[in-house]
Amino acid sequence: MTSTFWGRKALLAQLDALLSKSDPDNVSVVGPRGMGKTSLLRELARRYAAGKGDFVSACYVDLKHRRLDLAHPVFGPVAEAMQRSLRALGPDNEFSLLADELDPASPNVFNMLRRITIDDLAAVRRPILLALDGCDAVLKSTVAPRAAWDGLCNLADEGGVRFVTGSRRRLGDLCRDDDASSSDFFLRFKQLIELRPIGTDEWGDVFAVWGVDAAKGARDECHGWTGGHPALVAALGETLQGLKPLSIAAVSSSGSALVSRAHDALVGIWKDVGVEGQADLAAIAKSTVHAASFNKKRLDALSGHGLVRQVGGELRCASRAVEMYALEHGTAATDLQRLFGNRELFASNIRQVLEFRSAQIAISDKDLREHLRRALADVEHPRFCLNQFRGLASRALDMLYMIEAPGWKFPAAWLAQWSKAPNSRWPGDKGFPTGDRGRQCQLLREIVDDSKSPRLATMVSRRTAALVDQIKSYGDLGQHLDDTVDGSVAVAACFAALEMCDSLTRDLR
Ligand SMILES: Nc1ncnc2c1ncn2[C@@H]1O[C@H](COP(=O)(O)OP(=O)(O)OP(=O)(O)O)[C@@H](O)[C@H]1O
Ligand SMILES: [Mg+2]
Repeated sequence: MTSTFWGRKALLAQLDALLSKSDPDNVSVVGPRGMGKTSLLRELARRYAAGKGDFVSACYVDLKHRRLDLAHPVFGPVAEAMQRSLRALGPDNEFSLLADELDPASPNVFNMLRRITIDDLAAVRRPILLALDGCDAVLKSTVAPRAAWDGLCNLADEGGVRFVTGSRRRLGDLCRDDDASSSDFFLRFKQLIELRPIGTDEWGDVFAVWGVDAAKGARDECHGWTGGHPALVAALGETLQGLKPLSIAAVSSSGSALVSRAHDALVGIWKDVGVEGQADLAAIAKSTVHAASFNKKRLDALSGHGLVRQVGGELRCASRAVEMYALEHGTAATDLQRLFGNRELFASNIRQVLEFRSAQIAISDKDLREHLRRALADVEHPRFCLNQFRGLASRALDMLYMIEAPGWKFPAAWLAQWSKAPNSRWPGDKGFPTGDRGRQCQLLREIVDDSKSPRLATMVSRRTAALVDQIKSYGDLGQHLDDTVDGSVAVAACFAALEMCDSLTRDLR
């Protein structure tokens, strides 16, 4: 198969230089969604697969599109890819037989990797290049323990492997697990390559791969529509390949089709910048925005995604497709920005959101409805708002025990279960905790426990029980509240109250 890879010649040369130093570096390639990390890493692995410089071979390891194996989240996929690459060297190659020494599913897989890379490869100074792609997924999960990263680090330190990693964010920023993030592995990446859109000088190579003849006008048109963003370049190419000559009109009609058909590449980029970035792009698309007056952090984020550029101090969308999409779809984002764009706006407008949600819930109980109404009405005054929560919790407990334990008596089925377990927390002879809301919440947890057979509660769900518990806690907080309490606590409490009312109403329907 011929390669469909285009451009990135300078980057590949930079990688070659870093990997061929006498003490070669490990390299981390970072870039947002669609910026071409996977394509670059695959191309790099392809170029090194048959051996290049000192490297015996190279393999591309996809950590993203696979279910994480709890036992071998990293070593398993590495061994699998390495085995494939070594085998592909062919029977005449002295290293290809090493593939047979690997069993990716073995519990011993790390030792196998160690033996091959250290005893066989490092010993003769023929390391293997590992292109580890999609590191975000493994790093964000807590599945890959520190030992996994320490293990990889050890292979690299011994000189048997070199790494080029691909991730959307920097490796060190990704590690969610504190213990794992302290692994020395993350210190071994002295070289960081941040991927950017392709430059105007790279289009010649793109056109050669597409098999088109394009004059300068068509090239400028392609760059104008895509801003050189690789995912958009690839999307544009889908309908242009093979055109000789490639006319400006053809590019323009493919470009506008990306917008009108909401091409996945465009939608992906749009989603990736988040609601704040969307509102910013819409503002930049709509009118003149000066770089100097724009929030620096947000500008850096959009520039990092390759979506805005500066022209004489003014900001422009780097791609016409993104610009048109922002004009069409930016209204929702702009409205959200206008209503919730900063802390003060958020606090003063969130009440309307709570009221919308409230209108979606049909609460038949008058008392419950009234407590909720008052809580929402006072959301801007946390002290008064949280004062409603004791009433809310009490009413909810009354309602649900009226169904589950009529007359505030333990039903016979509960007593039967507890008598079979003499050490149970709820001996029937102690009587029902009437009037003690705290113990009623505890009892509630007990009766919705799905691991008990039979389950004691007939109507109330675990979901409702958890929410009632939470409402009770907010009620307790409301009793001892000073004036410094943040209004957003009341917002969180009100959302929980809404969901409790909804959940309870649905359970008891
Ligand atoms: N240099 C390139 N040559 C050919 N196609 C490319 C190139 N760079 C990117 N593409 C194409 O652009 C699209 C996005 O690229 P790619 O999947 O490599 O991005 P990515 O950075 O890995 O994104 P993600 O973070 O979602 O994994 C793909 O369709 C890919 O084929
Ligand atoms: Mg990728």
